[in-house]
Amino acid sequence: MPNRIKRKKPIIAIDGPAGAGKTTIARLLACRLGFTYIDTGAMYRVVAVRAHEEGINSGDENRLESLCRKIDIIFRTTEEENRIFLNGEDYSEKIRKPFVGQITSQVSAKPNIRETMVSLQRKMGGNGAVVMEGRDIGTVVFPDAEFKFYLDASSETRGKRRYLELKAKNEDVPLDEIIKEIKDRDERDASRIHSPLKKAEDAVYIDTSDMAIEEVVRTMLEVIKRTGLSL
Ligand code: DC
Repeated sequence: MPNRIKRKKPIIAIDGPAGAGKTTIARLLACRLGFTYIDTGAMYRVVAVRAHEEGINSGDENRLESLCRKIDIIFRTTEEENRIFLNGEDYSEKIRKPFVGQITSQVSAKPNIRETMVSLQRKMGGNGAVVMEGRDIGTVVFPDAEFKFYLDASSETRGKRRYLELKAKNEDVPLDEIIKEIKDRDERDASRIHSPLKKAEDAVYIDTSDMAIEEVVRTMLEVIKRTGLSL
């Protein structure tokens, strides 16, 4: 760490399973460094929601692909929140509805959807000064990223975090149902043929189960700053 520096400003790739804390941690890290934050899970979620709105079946790869080609995605990020706009419309709340996780997992397993999204992600992050978060950033999207982190936590911890998030939004889903959904999704994301979730060999592994958010951000900033890289 870091990999050989190839850009004026680095790419920081963050991967890991659902509920490992990636979204909050990546957003804070990006804001502290003054980098752009790109939540690739939110990008797949937007595609799945839009497809759902247009009545496109998650098995209809041709229509899904042409949908991907005409989308314009913009993020607006602060330390408090990250908002995502699709063709100018704010989709931030819609993409977090519980049913969206399942349909997104199906849509994101399609190879031509992944190809289209990966090339969009490379365009968005290729110049560096970016924190990009997802499942395949350090392995597929930017295997040459200067920094790679893999955030993990036990399925019970991840389930509890999701449960509290939903409860705060007055959505009362039983905890055991959430943990089961997380395990099912992990299984699907890790066993799919195209870009399965796995840690890049050169990624720094952090188990966030017993760590506070700030502690994880601090640990990551230390790893980055230790390299003496000018940010
Ligand atoms: O991180 P998330 O829960 O918002 O991700 C939603 C889904 O998208 C999840 O099932 C995994 C998938 N995903 C992916 O396949 N590749 C990425 N780079 C990001 C997310």
